[in-house]
Amino acid sequence: MAKTHSRYVCQQCGRVSASYMGKCPQCGSFNSMVEELIQDETPGKLSSFGAGISNRSMARRIGDFSAQAEPRMLVPIGEFSRVLGGGIVQGSIVLIGGDPGIGKSTLMLQVAMEMAKTRRVLYVSGEESERQIKMRADRLLTRTGTLPEDLYLATETNLTYILEHVREINPALLIVDSIQTVYLPEMDSSAGSVSQVRECSSRLRELAKSSGLSVFVIGHVTKEGVIAGPRVLEHVVDTVLYLEGDRFQSYRLLRSVKNRFGAVAEVGVFEMQETGLVEVINPSEAFLSERLINAAGSAIAVTMEGTRPVLVEVQGLTSSAQFGNARRTPNGVDYNRMLMLAAVLTRRLGLRLGEQDIFVNVVGGMKVDEPAADLAIAAAIASSMKDISIRADAVLIGEVGLAGELRLPGQMPIRLREAQKLGFKTAIVPKRMKKAEPWPENINIIEVRSIFQALEAALGKDPKAHEETLPKE
Ligand code: TYD
Ligand code: MG
Repeated sequence: MAKTHSRYVCQQCGRVSASYMGKCPQCGSFNSMVEELIQDETPGKLSSFGAGISNRSMARRIGDFSAQAEPRMLVPIGEFSRVLGGGIVQGSIVLIGGDPGIGKSTLMLQVAMEMAKTRRVLYVSGEESERQIKMRADRLLTRTGTLPEDLYLATETNLTYILEHVREINPALLIVDSIQTVYLPEMDSSAGSVSQVRECSSRLRELAKSSGLSVFVIGHVTKEGVIAGPRVLEHVVDTVLYLEGDRFQSYRLLRSVKNRFGAVAEVGVFEMQETGLVEVINPSEAFLSERLINAAGSAIAVTMEGTRPVLVEVQGLTSSAQFGNARRTPNGVDYNRMLMLAAVLTRRLGLRLGEQDIFVNVVGGMKVDEPAADLAIAAAIASSMKDISIRADAVLIGEVGLAGELRLPGQMPIRLREAQKLGFKTAIVPKRMKKAEPWPENINIIEVRSIFQALEAALGKDPKAHEETLPKE
């Protein structure tokens, strides 16, 4: 058997060293040395040209390959299935990332319990004891019925033993909770380090590809929002899903950010309840359920989450700054986007936001990063500042430019239909320059050119009065 030993390679310049160094002596970058495992080839194998020819890869004509869809295991949890692109692909490796405590283990245990009704599932945890997992499973039972026969638990962090468990139990699905706790004993570095995370995930990937077993690995996200053991993990796996949401609110969004077997940016919505995660079939309705009609500072945006339109309430609040510097506090929207919109409102509409603290909040713990929500964010701030409520029956869609002009986002018909489905009578949208696709007819569409006109319409005045005039400073 080939012997393995490790070496350290600078990820910036490629300098190789036998021991770890904090600073690379060649390029001078810090913390760039990463441990790598090398296998000593037996000398005979290296020198003989034809050795190993039987199991090397072969190039074939493209026509000889089949393009049939990969076999998938259906998951009875619809939202989960949809985010994956229609079930779990056999032989794939999926990463579930998210903040600690957001519900990753809960979600995966639920999936494990559902899948174990029809096939063998092995759930390996390096974080919790079997008893803790059992207690959680009991809690989830009300949703899934009986404890499935074919769900196996193990608490193990040594990857070599985990692979042995897999060989013994031969499951169709393996869940590793979490990748930061598993380690390969051959490597010097501790569990959770870049090199361990990378090496362990590549081993799991090899296992998945060679045996057709589907693997889910759970990964924690660091403060900066990246999965610890940085991007390395994302390259190794086929699919990356993030579970996000506000820990103090009940909604959880499962978002796919990379998917070799399906659409990206697909989103599944769940609600964390006493008995686990429950699918939210109609997210727009859920996000709007607690809305106060006619409150100043509330606007409804229509954003696209993957292929699905979602209506969200954006709230704005301005209040005079008490201690010198005015603060800008976004929750669920991008900070710089909010600054830009505040600047546009100040310069183009003359709103004196300079001495105001501004708070923006997207209700339900959603994160909105689509420019199509600009108009709703700006309107929410302006509405609070002027203390006039936005018409309750209207949605606002549109990207705001620096001159205060509005730009039309894509997929308008889908957005408008969703708004109409939820009972909105009016949509305030950027003016169409060419009518490529038909828009739904049974919703009153007010087309405006600028944020000024949009606000006139939203705050209940007649936009026609200011036609074609961009506001003066
Ligand atoms: P968990 O899955 O342990 O989070 P992660 O693995 O991402 O760190 O989720 C823990 C939180 O979920 C915890 O605060 C309790 C809550 N929870 C419920 O509200 N309902 C439930 O049925 C379960 C199992 C957990
Ligand atoms: Mg956990």
